[in-house]
Amino acid sequence: MEDRPPLRSYGRTKARALKPRQAGLVETLLPHLALPEAGAINLEAVFPISREGAEPSPLAGRRWPAGPDEGLAVSPDGASFPSPVASRHPLPSRGEGAVCAAPLILEIGFGGGEHLVAQAAALPDARFIGVEPFLNGVASCLRHVEESGVQNVRLHHGDARDVIARLPDACLDLVYILFPDPWPKTRHHKRRLIQREFLADLARVLKPGAEARFATDWAHYAEWTLELFMRDARFTWLAERAADWREPWPGHVPTRYEMKRLGDCAPVWLRFGGRNDTRQCDSYFTTRSPKFVTIGSKSRSWCSSA
Ligand SMILES: C[S@@+](CC[C@H](N)C(=O)[O-])C[C@H]1O[C@@H](n2cnc3c(N)ncnc32)[C@H](O)[C@@H]1O
Repeated sequence: MEDRPPLRSYGRTKARALKPRQAGLVETLLPHLALPEAGAINLEAVFPISREGAEPSPLAGRRWPAGPDEGLAVSPDGASFPSPVASRHPLPSRGEGAVCAAPLILEIGFGGGEHLVAQAAALPDARFIGVEPFLNGVASCLRHVEESGVQNVRLHHGDARDVIARLPDACLDLVYILFPDPWPKTRHHKRRLIQREFLADLARVLKPGAEARFATDWAHYAEWTLELFMRDARFTWLAERAADWREPWPGHVPTRYEMKRLGDCAPVWLRFGGRNDTRQCDSYFTTRSPKFVTIGSKSRSWCSSA
């Protein structure tokens, strides 16, 4: 029998029309950060080591509205310049890649990208992949990428299950699934992201010692997730005491959905590792306590490694 694609686990893929600046970023910045649309994902090509001796752009650090042409930005007086964004995010070029052991972190369903970009800013020596099918969320994330100047984020506008299927074996150090669509009605449970097949695919791409972090404020989804992970012989629940599921892990940055409190319970924080893991992941991810600072005019909390 032919394999059917999984049911859609997300709601809308687009809401209101993008603002001109967001549309400009989708046009000009996204192509520099996007994973390849098809085929196996070559991580060395996606995260190339930057060229030695490359000159920093004379425009680096200045803000220009994204222009209509790729690689160009338009200054307020209408003149075109090489885009500072493009120069901060050089296109991966063939043959430039080198083996890079920096930790690889995937965020599935990053929403507006606040958590993804804050984590990327807090851990500049790690590589982040964010996946989100909601175009307005991708556009919002691009704005955060541009404003923060992080260089270690790559994005995919689409379904994370498609990305996972194209990743090499044992490549991920950490996966975030934060406040996924809860699909609370019984007839919709089959749309939930966490399914038996999904865990099998996830297990393939996690490194030994890697961790999957899940949070929800829907009690049934918390139980559902815990049960599926516990039934899968490849995973183990890392909780040792009640505080481990009642309180977020160290370094957590609150997400937009988390703050909306739309669920039917307090957030539940679940961390899963491989069954026979030595907890190598802990040494990297839980010993770093990012410092929270406020950046920008909207008084959001962000992380900084400074
Ligand atoms: C309830 S929102 C939470 C967003 C964000 N994590 C937060 O906490 O603010 C769930 C997000 O997951 C995304 N999503 C659902 N299914 C997905 C999938 N298969 N791959 C990637 N993202 C998905 C949705 O588009 C939506 O933006």
